[in-house]
Amino acid sequence: MKSFPFAELLRPEIADLKAYAPHEGQFDVRLDANEAPALLSEGARARLAEVAGQTAWERYPDASELELRTALGARSGVGAESVLVGCGSDELLSLLVTAFDRPRLGARSTTLATVTPTFVMYRMAARVRGVTAIEVPLDRSWDLDVAGFERALAMMRPNLVLLASPNNPTGRLMSADRLEAVVRAAHDAVVVVDEAYVDYAPRTQLGLLERHSNVAVLRTLSKIGFAALRVGWLVADPALIGELDKVRMPYNVPTPSQRVATVALRELGSEIDHIVEVVRRERDRVTEALERMGGLTPTPSDANFIWVRTESPAGEVHARLAGNGVLVRSFHASGGRLAHQLRITIGAPADNDRLLEVLPSCV
Ligand SMILES: Cc1ncc(COP(=O)(O)O)c(C=O)c1O
Repeated sequence: MKSFPFAELLRPEIADLKAYAPHEGQFDVRLDANEAPALLSEGARARLAEVAGQTAWERYPDASELELRTALGARSGVGAESVLVGCGSDELLSLLVTAFDRPRLGARSTTLATVTPTFVMYRMAARVRGVTAIEVPLDRSWDLDVAGFERALAMMRPNLVLLASPNNPTGRLMSADRLEAVVRAAHDAVVVVDEAYVDYAPRTQLGLLERHSNVAVLRTLSKIGFAALRVGWLVADPALIGELDKVRMPYNVPTPSQRVATVALRELGSEIDHIVEVVRRERDRVTEALERMGGLTPTPSDANFIWVRTESPAGEVHARLAGNGVLVRSFHASGGRLAHQLRITIGAPADNDRLLEVLPSCV
């Protein structure tokens, strides 16, 4: 490959990275990206197409995003002033790391703390900004290790703590008391509780916002049927929202996404509830079937995917499934205790049937 002429100017961390590339290829069933199944009614689809069609194409989007912030705030029980909208929650993670990348007094570099395994974007967002991500391993039941976290906080003094609950890829909510203990221990850092999958969980952690001024909660429409829109939002104290808003690009969410998301939230609440209900029901059905199958141990899930331990190496099971037209995610490349772990998204009932049909010959 031709060498890049500005390599000397490039952040060295970037040279080692690979661009994000979702799995290519044709598969009958894709259960790899934690998207929701396509269950919107024809009527809902027609309404959203009508709204998108009303876009004033020659105009910039509404920079204040007020209508959408109001609708998202209503979903999280807060006012628009407590909401910042991002082009996916990924953008908000980037904004947070950018805004809080100042080294503490006397420190040479900035750190953020998270767990492992977790959503890879936390590490990526840190790395491309020269911020060091400290990863505290989850315990044997994939829950927070509070003592480990307290040690990491005391030693590394991170500016930010990023915790997904339910976590990706493990699918588990963090125990409420452990999460609260980490939030307390991290009192001089901003703690972001990422609730990307909370619609599938038995409880939300929004209550932390009332008890702790250092907490922000991240949410997204991507997992409940609207990944195409790229709409995520952060709920936090208006003072923090105000500071982050200065870092946000003024037109970060395109008009069709703003309008369609607003209408979906205002008018399609029962369709979203239906998607969540079907996925939860299917999750229980698939979990039970996996438990009975042999060669596989599913972890009980609070999300729209299942974290599954395989007796055979996960990479082999993944390849055999792919050979049968079913794509899931394998974590074997990470090695260690992840070498036997798959993450399987819950799809539409017919997709899950197909998974369960081919799995016995793949494990
Ligand atoms: C824990 C977690 N947070 C955030 C995201 C990103 O969501 P969005 O589509 O809103 O950028 C994901 C996507 O997989 C995720 O797993």
